[in-house]
Amino acid sequence: MLQINKLPEEKWDDFKSLRLEALQKDPLAFGSSYTEEIEFTEDIWKNRLQNTLFAIQENKLIGMVSFLVNQKSKLNHTAEIYGVYVKYEFRNKKIGKQLIETAINLIRQNRTIKKIKLVVSAIQESAVNLYIQLGFEIVGTLKNELKVDDNFYDALVMEKIF
Ligand SMILES: CC(C)(COP(=O)(O)OP(=O)(O)OC[C@H]1O[C@@H](n2cnc3c(N)ncnc32)[C@H](O)[C@@H]1OP(=O)(O)O)[C@@H](O)C(=O)NCCC(=O)NCCS
Repeated sequence: MLQINKLPEEKWDDFKSLRLEALQKDPLAFGSSYTEEIEFTEDIWKNRLQNTLFAIQENKLIGMVSFLVNQKSKLNHTAEIYGVYVKYEFRNKKIGKQLIETAINLIRQNRTIKKIKLVVSAIQESAVNLYIQLGFEIVGTLKNELKVDDNFYDALVMEKIF
């Protein structure tokens, strides 16, 4: 059975493994890189864990999404979604959709939130389609936003307004 949940702090190493796998297998999907994050300390992973929801099946992590609510007074009606990943062998089973829907529902428990924004590599078509299906709109393009192996990639800014 699939569960969507946060993880207790002591499971930080499982999160680290999944995140490093994501950075290695889908380098064009993320603004960060494996070589940067392999250096992260235990405290950094534990801290990041607090903003992350996981898809869990038979005690194994198979997907994740991170989100945060901006704390600044002029921005505290906005939230952000990032770090979305589903393991290859579990794709196309609506796990990504369930992860994002759960994140949206949690974010919306805070009634002051009026929009969720995200940035996604234009080349990650599955992710772009997933966000569109869940009501996000493309509101802009960041040209050559990502550089991987000396190649440049555009990123899309997307948002969902309530
Ligand atoms: C994007 C990602 C999370 C989708 O996860 P998933 O569990 O396979 O997606 P789902 O099964 O929930 O699919 C939901 C919708 O997403 C879109 N989608 C998913 N896979 C797709 C594919 N291969 N091609 C086109 N659209 C796709 C479709 O709209 C789909 O709805 P449909 O099945 O009714 O057509 C997954 O492909 C992934 O981890 N990609 C690499 C990391 C990434 O790009 N992250 C985004 C960072 S911002």
